Amino acid sequence: MGTWPLLLLLLVATAQAQVCSVNQTFFEIEENTTLSAPLLDIYVPEDQQVTLGPSSTLFAFRIRGTQLFLNITPDYEENSMLQAHLECKRGDTVVTQLRVFVSVLDVNDNPPVFPYKTKQWGVPEDTKVKATVIPETELEAQDRDRDDILFYTLQEVTPGASDFFSLAGVNRPALQLDRSLDFDALPRMTFQLLVRDTQEENKQPSHSATATLILEVQPADLRPPWFLPCVYSDGHVCIQAQYHGAVPTGHRLPGPLTLRPGPIYAVDGDRGIDERIIYSMVTGHEDGTFSIGADSGNLTMAKSIPSPQTFVLMVKGEQADGARYSVTQVTVEALDANGSLPRFPESLYRGTVALGSGPGVAVQDAAAPPQPLRIRAQDPEFPDLNSAITYRITNNSNFRMDGEAVLTSALLMQAGVFYAEVEATNTVTSGTATTVLEVQVSEQEPSSTAGDRRFSTVEMAVLGGVLGALLLLALIALTVLVHKHYGHRLKCCSGKALEPQPQGFDNKAFLTKDEANWEPAPSPPPSPAPPAPPKPAEPSPHSPAPSHRVPESPAVAPDGGSPAAVRSILTKERRPEGGYKAVWFGEDIGAEADVVVLNTPGSEVDGAGDSGSEGGGDEGADAGPGGRGQDAPGTDSIYF
Ligand SMILES: *[C@@H]1O[C@H](CO)[C@@H](O)[C@H](O)[C@H]1NC(C)=O
Ligand SMILES: *[C@@H]1O[C@H](CO)[C@@H](O)[C@H](O)[C@H]1NC(C)=O
Ligand SMILES: *[C@@H]1O[C@H](CO)[C@@H](O)[C@H](O)[C@H]1NC(C)=O
Ligand SMILES: *[C@@H]1O[C@H](CO)[C@@H](O)[C@H](O)[C@H]1NC(C)=O
Ligand SMILES: *[C@@H]1O[C@H](CO)[C@@H](O)[C@H](O)[C@H]1NC(C)=O
Repeated sequence: MGTWPLLLLLLVATAQAQVCSVNQTFFEIEENTTLSAPLLDIYVPEDQQVTLGPSSTLFAFRIRGTQLFLNITPDYEENSMLQAHLECKRGDTVVTQLRVFVSVLDVNDNPPVFPYKTKQWGVPEDTKVKATVIPETELEAQDRDRDDILFYTLQEVTPGASDFFSLAGVNRPALQLDRSLDFDALPRMTFQLLVRDTQEENKQPSHSATATLILEVQPADLRPPWFLPCVYSDGHVCIQAQYHGAVPTGHRLPGPLTLRPGPIYAVDGDRGIDERIIYSMVTGHEDGTFSIGADSGNLTMAKSIPSPQTFVLMVKGEQADGARYSVTQVTVEALDANGSLPRFPESLYRGTVALGSGPGVAVQDAAAPPQPLRIRAQDPEFPDLNSAITYRITNNSNFRMDGEAVLTSALLMQAGVFYAEVEATNTVTSGTATTVLEVQVSEQEPSSTAGDRRFSTVEMAVLGGVLGALLLLALIALTVLVHKHYGHRLKCCSGKALEPQPQGFDNKAFLTKDEANWEPAPSPPPSPAPPAPPKPAEPSPHSPAPSHRVPESPAVAPDGGSPAAVRSILTKERRPEGGYKAVWFGEDIGAEADVVVLNTPGSEVDGAGDSGSEGGGDEGADAGPGGRGQDAPGTDSIYF
């Protein structure tokens, strides 16, 4: 009696005293949290010790006294299940083993990371629309959070770039092309690629990263050579120039022919490739009268022409790599012309040049610096025959003529005003004329106003309108003159700037005798001067262009007087390799434009000379219909 309960109590106490125990064996804990409190209290009998057994997760736990602590900040990405293996020993004998598990819960604690900061790709210009330009694997970011879904956004840095590229999907960062590339318009585009590990920006937690993508457009050979100046060009299409010139019968001109609207000159329509152009004659070379310089495009006479006739030459400009070519037409008229004395339209030409200029600097037009001064005489009997006129300065060694331009020929150390006599000689007739050149050598660099700026289409249209109106006035005035004169042509001719180097195939302009008659006639004219037409329509012999440019004479008067057709004004810049670079030049040409070629309707010479075809070379894609104003009605156009 009374011993049973006591015994039972003793038994329980003994049993309890003999094994370790815990009241919980499974825990859940979010990753990246530090737990300073003990995870667990272990009941350990007095004669035993508890230690971590060998199958415990390494370093994850520690035991202090009889408490189990988490020893680390758990990381789901590293280990999502931790195990504590508790061994209770009496002496060396293991009495109890217990296992406690800690499940680590995933938290979005890692930001996405791009394996690059900036990536640059070359994209061929002719890449097909919808093509994948950069595969997903090269662009995607990494996120250590296993379950994160990444959301990508492409943001343009280069304005307009997002018209061209987009991502395949919000979770698929492959870059695809949406629109045909244009090397000339956008050669390089920059984007920011943004990645976020949540769909919504304001969700917490949310991480993001950015990288820079640079896409370099690699020019592709898409366009054929373009004969300049384009009658019309929007950068993709060029309606090419056709060229016209005249030579006298019975003479072989020693130098390259002077053509309008300029020298035969083509450039690779793919300006980014700028393949060298090789010139040849497709037809018209059979009789050996003319030859063309393969590299220069210079058209020269190989022999004299006995009687008047019109030569229609088809000239090919082919890329040096042979990939593409264009063909245009060159019309040369051989005319009977006995010639007469050349005449200068002005009795005094004013130029300006900076003090200290060395030899070879172009004297600028004092009325429109920095456009180079041009001095141009004409043969009233043979207005197209500029090829035959040469110039020299007779009495001043500080200056020399280079074609129609005036260059310094010595270092100018003295300021002041200098005068020189310029003599023009018609090499066919040996007739000469003189005029006076006044050059102001001043300390001040002449102000730079002339245009490097490009014309906008609107500006060009406005210019075209002005020119058109002026031309209409000129036409009316000419109608009066037509009765008194033959050769019913008005040519407002090209200006051209020269570079210091000697020039051959400069675009010498064409002045007609009608034009000459517009001059105030300072010296006794050979014939009575007719009434002067409106002054603004007078073609200036001076070219509007910076001194380092060689502007050509591309504005073409439209037939029917539609001014909108006057589109292109061009300069050519001689490049070191010996070629030319075409440059559209700017606004102030409006006042100075002297590049209009206008033929009165029904002019027998032009009607004959301009009929023909015009070639383009790009499977018909790039060549439009010939829009030349002076094309005769019914002209056939051939495009390649
Ligand atoms: C285990 O014991 C501790 C105190 O020692 C207590 O806080 C905890 O709630 C107990 N756990 C369970 C599952 O009973
Ligand atoms: C852990 O969480 C803190 C904030 O809770 C955060 O700043 C830190 O970047 C996280 N660590 C890791 C490795 O993600
Ligand atoms: C050139 O001169 C000859 C004789 O002097 C003359 O017969 C011929 O008509 C002239 N030609 C022109 C185009 O003036
Ligand atoms: C050259 O000739 C022109 C015209 O006759 C004259 O005005 C000028 O003074 C002369 N210049 C020199 C340097 O002799
Ligand atoms: C082309 O003509 C220009 C001007 O006459 C000349 O300077 C140049 O040397 C010529 N080029 C060739 C290759 O004959």
